[in-house]
Amino acid sequence: MKTVTSPAAMQQLSLKFREEAKTIALVPTMGCLHAGHLSLVHTARATADILVVSVFVNPMQFGPGEDLDAYPRDSDKDKQLCEDAGVDIFFFPSNDAMYPIGHSSFVEETVLSRELCGRLRPGHFRGVTTIVAKLLNIVLPHRAFFGQKDAQQALVVRKLVSDLSFPVEIVTCPTVRDTDGLALSSRNKYMSTEERNAALCVPGALEVAEQAIRSGTSDARMISSAMQEALKRTPGVKVDYVEVVDPSTLEPIVAISGPALVAVAVRIGRTRLIDNRLIGGPDVEPPTPWLPPSP
Ligand code: PAF
Repeated sequence: MKTVTSPAAMQQLSLKFREEAKTIALVPTMGCLHAGHLSLVHTARATADILVVSVFVNPMQFGPGEDLDAYPRDSDKDKQLCEDAGVDIFFFPSNDAMYPIGHSSFVEETVLSRELCGRLRPGHFRGVTTIVAKLLNIVLPHRAFFGQKDAQQALVVRKLVSDLSFPVEIVTCPTVRDTDGLALSSRNKYMSTEERNAALCVPGALEVAEQAIRSGTSDARMISSAMQEALKRTPGVKVDYVEVVDPSTLEPIVAISGPALVAVAVRIGRTRLIDNRLIGGPDVEPPTPWLPPSP
């Protein structure tokens, strides 16, 4: 595995791979890799000649007072995990390389980005779309892989790529969960044992929604109230939002008659967690999801 830190060198390498008719897959990450990322890496590995994993904690997608400084970083471990997973290039640019002094261009998706997390994290998706556009231009991948846990991000990126005609296929991969149901996230590291136990109310609330919908409840307000109730029963949990939305527009659903995306964001102590479940739509889970080998 080669480590590349210069965006220009990365782009030159990718141009050479393309000249040699090699296919390139990109898994963009902010590092501190866990089994969720590794599942993207494994899926991506099978689809391309050259697999690039980028690790860059993008300051532009963090708001004032958010966890940019505290965000977990462990590039040595990340490199080892990538090497073991058969990654070809570990792209690890510095902040100055990605945003040199004077950087003044931004990419913004203006509709989907306003919903859900966009309401509470103004500027977040502008930061995501700007860095993703840059990474696509630098790495020039044929395919880029994103996790369904960040369902809104995956949708916003698909819209960006479609609206601005990036020649890349966006692949969304299923959420990887711990055995007790908690979705894997680098931010889970912030939580104490008690907070982690409390966090199980999030997959619990999604289960409440799934059961209600499967047993015929179509009133989305009733479903969000039942979820709110389930979340409020856990001490120390602050609900940012509970929403039942259209999976392609993210607009709130009033009466469920087709696929619905149920999305939750909560804060537990200093940790913000998001999770979602797609209910009644096409099955996004592959028949045999990749699971991390047991230690
Ligand atoms: O999902 C993430 O880790 C980040 O938002 C991404 C896509 C790498 C952009 O910084």
